[in-house]
Amino acid sequence: MKKNIPFFSLQRQYENMKEKLNLVIKDVLESQKFIGGNFVESFEKKFSCYTKTTHAISCNSGTNALWLALKALDIKQNDIVLTTPFSFISSSSEIVSLGAHPVFVDIDTKTFNIDIAKIETWIEKNTLYKENRLIEKRTGHPISGIIPVDIFGQCADYKKIKLIAEKYNLWIIQDSCQSIGAVDSQGKKAGTQANISCFSFYPTKNLGAFGDGGCCTTNNQFLAEKIIQLRNHGRKTHYNYTMYGINSRLDGIQAAVLNEKLNFIDDWNDKRRSIAKIYNEKLSNIDFIQIPESNNGKHVFHQYCINIKSNCLQRDEFIYQLNKMGIGTNIYYPKALTQIEFLNKDKRLKNNCPIAQNLTQTILALPIWPELKNEEVEYVCSCIKKVAKKFKIKQTGIKKETIIRL
Ligand SMILES: Cc1ncc(COP(=O)(O)O)c(C=O)c1O
Repeated sequence: MKKNIPFFSLQRQYENMKEKLNLVIKDVLESQKFIGGNFVESFEKKFSCYTKTTHAISCNSGTNALWLALKALDIKQNDIVLTTPFSFISSSSEIVSLGAHPVFVDIDTKTFNIDIAKIETWIEKNTLYKENRLIEKRTGHPISGIIPVDIFGQCADYKKIKLIAEKYNLWIIQDSCQSIGAVDSQGKKAGTQANISCFSFYPTKNLGAFGDGGCCTTNNQFLAEKIIQLRNHGRKTHYNYTMYGINSRLDGIQAAVLNEKLNFIDDWNDKRRSIAKIYNEKLSNIDFIQIPESNNGKHVFHQYCINIKSNCLQRDEFIYQLNKMGIGTNIYYPKALTQIEFLNKDKRLKNNCPIAQNLTQTILALPIWPELKNEEVEYVCSCIKKVAKKFKIKQTGIKKETIIRL
C-alpha cells in the first residue's frame, strides 16, 4: 500500500512534546523574560555541559555563530581561510562578509568531509612560511585558519586538522551546525575540537528551535568574553561600547524550547542512527547506490545521503519515481561553493574541487527524522528496490547502458 513519507516533518515530535513545550513557553510569557535572563542562562549552562565545553554562548543563528567566531579570532581583510566546498553557504559567506577569502579544498570521496591530504598538498604547493605566518605565494595574503564542516552529522578528521593547524599557526573554527552530539574518531564530542565551534538550532536541525537560534562553544575564556561582547553591540556594560558588534541574541522562548528539547537529543540521535542502519542494510546491495561511510566516530545523521552512481538512471528520474510512491527527497547540495560567484572573487585563489562538484550531480538525501517508524523506513527501501528493478540496473556507472523499462 502506498505510504506518504515526507522528507522531513516535526509534526510527530510536536505532538509527543506539546504539553511540556506549551508549558515552558507559557513560563517565558508569564515571566516576561524575552531577551536574556534565566531561560537563556540555563540553556547555555546545559549546552556547555552537554558539549563538555567550558563556555556556550548562544546567539541568533548558526550563520551568526560563524561570524562571531571569525570576528573573535580577529580575522582581517584579505586573510585566507581553508574550507570545504561541500557545505551550506554560511561556512564561506561569513568569511567573505568580513573581507577575507575562502580557499576551497576538495572533499574525501567517502565521508564528503574536507580531505586532509589535499589541505597539505595545497599548502605545500601554494604557500611559503614567513615571520611565523603562512603566506599564499601569488597574492601575498596570509592564511589565518581552517573551517572544517561536519557534513551531514559526521565529524571531520580533527586529529589531522589539528596537526596542520599547530604546524602552521592557524586557528580552527568547527562548523558543527549539523553535528550536535556527534563524536569524532578520537572520542571527542562535536563542539570541543576547535578554537571555537558553531552550532545551528534551525528548526530542521537535530536540535531545532521554534525559530532561528545558534551557539558558539569554546574552552577559551578570552574568546568567550569577546563573543559575549560581539553578540551584544560590542558593549562591555550597558552603554559602554568598545568594539563593533551586532545584535545576535537567542531569545527566551527559543532558549526555553531548546532547554526542554536538549533532554531528548541523545535519544533522537540514536533513532537517526538506527534508521541509517536499516538504510545501510537494505540498500548496500543495490549496485548503483553508494551508501554513506562512517569513520570510527559517532555519526548523528543530520542527513542520510546516497550517491547515485549510475549513468542509466538519472537522479531526476529517481526522484520522480520515489515521489510517485509518496516519498519525499532533497538535494544537499545542488551546487558546490566553488560554483558560487561571489565566494570566488579572486581568481588567483581558485582551486578546483571536482569531487565536490561532481557529487552535486548525483547526491540525494532520503527521509531521516527520529519519529519515522521502522516500517516507513523499510517502505522507502522497498520502493528504492522497485525503482532499481524497474530500471534493471546492474552496473555502477562508467559503462553506458540502455534503460530497460518494464
Ligand atoms: C553546515 C551549516 N553551516 C551553517 C549553517 C547556518 O545555520 P543557520 O541556518 O542557523 O544560520 C547551517 C544551517 O543550515 C549548516 O547546515
